[in-house]
Amino acid sequence: MCRKHLGPDRAPGGVSRLHSILKTMDQRGVGVAALEIGYNAGAECYEQDWLPSAKVAVDRLMELVELSPGQRVLDVGCGTGYTTRQAARAVGPAGLVEGVDIAEKMLDVARRRCGAEGLNNCRFVRGELLETMAACPAGTFDACTCTWVVGYVSVKALAEAAAHVLRKGGRLGICCNAAWSPKDILSVVMRMIARHPWIMRRTVNFPFPSTRRGIRKSLIKAGFSDPVIETGTFVMRYESGRHILDQFERSGEAEVYRQAIDPKHFDSLMAEFVERMEAEYLTPAGLPVSYEYFVIKADRS
Ligand SMILES: C[S@@+](CC[C@H](N)C(=O)[O-])C[C@H]1O[C@@H](n2cnc3c(N)ncnc32)[C@H](O)[C@@H]1O
Repeated sequence: MCRKHLGPDRAPGGVSRLHSILKTMDQRGVGVAALEIGYNAGAECYEQDWLPSAKVAVDRLMELVELSPGQRVLDVGCGTGYTTRQAARAVGPAGLVEGVDIAEKMLDVARRRCGAEGLNNCRFVRGELLETMAACPAGTFDACTCTWVVGYVSVKALAEAAAHVLRKGGRLGICCNAAWSPKDILSVVMRMIARHPWIMRRTVNFPFPSTRRGIRKSLIKAGFSDPVIETGTFVMRYESGRHILDQFERSGEAEVYRQAIDPKHFDSLMAEFVERMEAEYLTPAGLPVSYEYFVIKADRS
C-alpha cells in the first residue's frame, strides 16, 4: 500500500502513521480455515454469482490447455466443479478428472452437478491443495488446472506443487485475478482502511500476481517451459453498492474480512463502502465493475 493507492483522503497523520499502525497488526493474516468457512457458507450461490461473467477466463484456459480423450487431470481448488466438468467432457469416459478442495459444501455441489450431467469420470477429494499435491506420487497427471484460486496460494507455490504431480510434457493451466483487480473496489477499500487503519485486527495477504514477468519467472524456476500468459477483462454490472455488498457477503472471501476487521466496526465500514461505491461509480445504467485477470498455460519440462 503506498501514497498512490491511498488517494486524497488518506490516513490522518499520513502514510507513516498508517505504516506504524499496520506494523502493530497481527501479521499472520487470515488463512485457509477462514476460506473453508466462507466457501462452505457461500457454496450454493457461488456459480450463479461469479461464473456467468468469470467463466470467460476458464473457457479460454480450456482452449489453451487442449485436453485429449483418455487423459488424467487434477483440478485443484475445484470448488463447485465448473472447470472439473469441462475437463471431464474433454477427456471423455476413458479419462479421469480429480477435483480437490478444502470446502466440503463446494464439493457437495460439484458431485451433485456432475451426477446431474451424467459425468462418471470425476472424483472429488476434500483437502488443502498444496498438501494433497505433495502427497501424490510424482508424475501422476497429464494436466493440472487451477481456476480462480491463485491469490489464495501463490503462483510460485502452485507451480512447484504442479511440477511434482505432472508427468514430463504435462500441462499446467491457471486463471486468476490480477493483484490490482477489481481496481475500483480496491481503491475504495484501500482509502477506507487508510482513514481507519485501527479497524484491521489482522492483515489480509492474498498473493495475487501482478506482472507477466513475475509469473513467468515462477513457472520457469519450478520446471515449466513455453509459458503462455494472456490478460483479459470482464465487467460485472451491479444494480447498486448494496448489490455488490450482498454478493460479497455470500462469497467465500467474506469470512476472511470478517476475521480481519474489528467486529465493532464491521457494519459501519460496510455501510461506508456502499455509500462510497455509489458516490464514485454509480451510473444510470448501474454500477459496472471491471475485473482484470491472467490466463496462464505452461508445459512441464
Ligand atoms: C473462487 S473458488 C474457485 C472454484 C473453481 N475452481 C472455479 O473456477 O469455479 C476458490 C476455491 O478454492 C478453494 N480453496 C482456496 N484455498 C484452498 C486451499 N489452500 N486448498 C484447497 N482449496 C482451496 C475454496 O474452497 C474455493 O472452493
